[in-house]
Parts: sequence; structure tokens; C-alpha cells
Amino acid sequence: MDIREYFLHKKIGVLAGGISSEREVSLRSGKNVLDSLKRQGFEAFISDPADNDFIEQIKVMDVAFIALHGGYGEDGGIQGLLEVMGIPHTGSGVLASALSMNKVASKRIFREQGIPTPDYACVPLPQGYSYEDLSRKLGLPLVAKPVSEGSSVGVTIIRDESEIKGIIDELTDKHKDVFIEKYIHGQSVTVGILGNDKKLRALPVLELVSKNEFYDYEAKYTSGMTEFIIPARLDADIYKAVCQTAINAHLVLGCEGFSRVDILVSDDRIPFVHDVNTIPGLTNLSDLPACAASDGMSYDELIFEMLCSAYYRG
Ligand SMILES: Nc1ncnc2c1ncn2[C@@H]1O[C@H](COP(=O)(O)OP(=O)(O)O)[C@@H](O)[C@H]1O
Ligand SMILES: [Mg+2]
Repeated sequence: MDIREYFLHKKIGVLAGGISSEREVSLRSGKNVLDSLKRQGFEAFISDPADNDFIEQIKVMDVAFIALHGGYGEDGGIQGLLEVMGIPHTGSGVLASALSMNKVASKRIFREQGIPTPDYACVPLPQGYSYEDLSRKLGLPLVAKPVSEGSSVGVTIIRDESEIKGIIDELTDKHKDVFIEKYIHGQSVTVGILGNDKKLRALPVLELVSKNEFYDYEAKYTSGMTEFIIPARLDADIYKAVCQTAINAHLVLGCEGFSRVDILVSDDRIPFVHDVNTIPGLTNLSDLPACAASDGMSYDELIFEMLCSAYYRG
């Protein structure tokens, strides 16, 4: 059966909102997805996991388009619930979602599979290992990050050894699990990956030039705060390596349907993968729709291809 025809007979629940720190972004993504699905003639409605009757809402949907970001949305929790309830959903399954959301878990897999990722240390540091040892080993500046957040929430640059303890204590209070990464000087790029039925492709690489110190929350969601350059200003050989590395990162984590892989290309031209997003932002300012557009793909075509992932994973 034609896949579009298949979905025209389904009630599509667009899951948006939720309880993570990225709730507001998700609501914006969800609204855009809903409008797109309706424009394309599908029967769709918003369903918010933060609602008391969320379970009742799930029961009336035939398919779930997950437009949640962060905890309980992008981390496999909701995916598990939907799978147990027999509702097909878009994107990655439980394990790939959980691994991708947990930056330390993903880094361990990248390490094992030979995918470059910035050197790092978990917090608390191993016994007998001091912050002094750490800054000597990784070099300053460092980047402290929550293990499982998104949208740059909590990401903090550490420029001086004396700041490490204070920053780590503050982040640990707010976000529980925190780790420290080597700061990579270079270009910040992101690669949209699309692929149903095992055929993966990388969308044109987007380079992000932030007016802030790095691509922080404000830079991400305020119009004009970040310059988007597509295709990224990279030599042909490193451009190709970035695309291949992004596809490999998607594959080794077991992602399905789509993802967006954040990469820092160091000054010595190594593509370091630091973040795999299994549910990329879908607002009108978001990266993935911009990458798709530069490939000649409209927002509606992108949303339809993402919807199709629910068909392929069944
Ligand atoms: N190791 C690093 N070196 C330099 N900049 C970094 C590093 N890690 C993160 N950043 C900056 O912080 C932003 C957010 O970090 P990221 O790892 O993508 O987490 P998330 O997007 O999930 O919050 C990146 O887009 C980049 O601008
Ligand atoms: Mg990121």
C-alpha cells in the first residue's frame, strides 16, 4: 500500500510538551509538526505527556509522532510506553534513544567503535584523581555538561582551574549527573541524517556561527543570534569525512529514521562527535528543517519522511 494512503487512515498523535527542561521548545516543534500534518491532509492532534489523561490520549491514537525533547521524551521512556501499548512511533527505539540521550554512554560506544569524540572525565573523578590532574591531562579550557540534557542547558565553559569545583558543584546540584569534556577549538557543525528502510543519507552539513561564546540556549532559540552557513565551509575531503562520521555515529547507537549529529571539527581537521539528537528540534528556527531546505526538501516533505519512520519500524 502507498505509505501516504496508509497514514491518511490513521489518527496521528503529535507528542509535544512533556516535563523536561526543553518543554517550551517541544511545544513549538509540536505546533509546527501539527500544522504540517494537517496541511498534508492527515488527521492529527497534540498530546502532552504532562496532561493527567495522557494515557487515555495514547489509547485513541494509531500512530505517535514524537516531538518531545529531553527527559522522558527523547530518552526512551515514552518510546517504551508506546511500544508496550502497541502504538507505532516515529524515530529511534528504547535503547538507541537512551544511549543517545546519555552523552557518556554514547561516548563510550564512539570510543569502542573508533568514532572521534572529545576526551572526557566523569564526575565524581576517580579516587585519588584531582581537578588539577584533570586540567593537566585534558588542558584548559574545559566544558562541563549535564550527562542527559539538551538545548545547551547547563553547558558551561571552564577557563581556569580554580573555577572547576564551583561550576561542577553548581551543575551537579541542578542536573545530578555531570561530566567534563576537553574544549575543542574549531568549527561547530551539525549533520541531519535521514533514512528509512536502512538507506541512510546525510543532509547538507550546517555550520553554526554563534554571536555568543558558544551555541548556547539563547543562541539556539533567538532569531539572528546564530549564523547558519550551509553547506559548511569545509574542504571537500573533510566535508565527506564529517558526513560519514555522522552516519556512523547514528548507526553505532542504533538510531532509526532520523537524527541530527553535532560535530566539532577541530583546527587540525578531526570531526569530533559530541552530541547525537534522536529528536531534533522542528521549530521554524531549528537546524534540521534548515538542512532539509538546503537539500530542496520542504518542511512538509521532511515531516512526512519522519512520519514514515513509524511505518518502517512498525
Ligand atoms: N567539547 C566542546 N568544545 C567546544 N564547544 C563545545 C563542546 N561541547 C559542547 N560545546 C558547545 O556547546 C553546545 C551544546 O553542547 P552539546 O554537546 O551539543 O549539548 P546539547 O546540545 O545536548 O545541550 C555545542 O553546540 C557547542 O557550541
Ligand atoms: Mg547539541
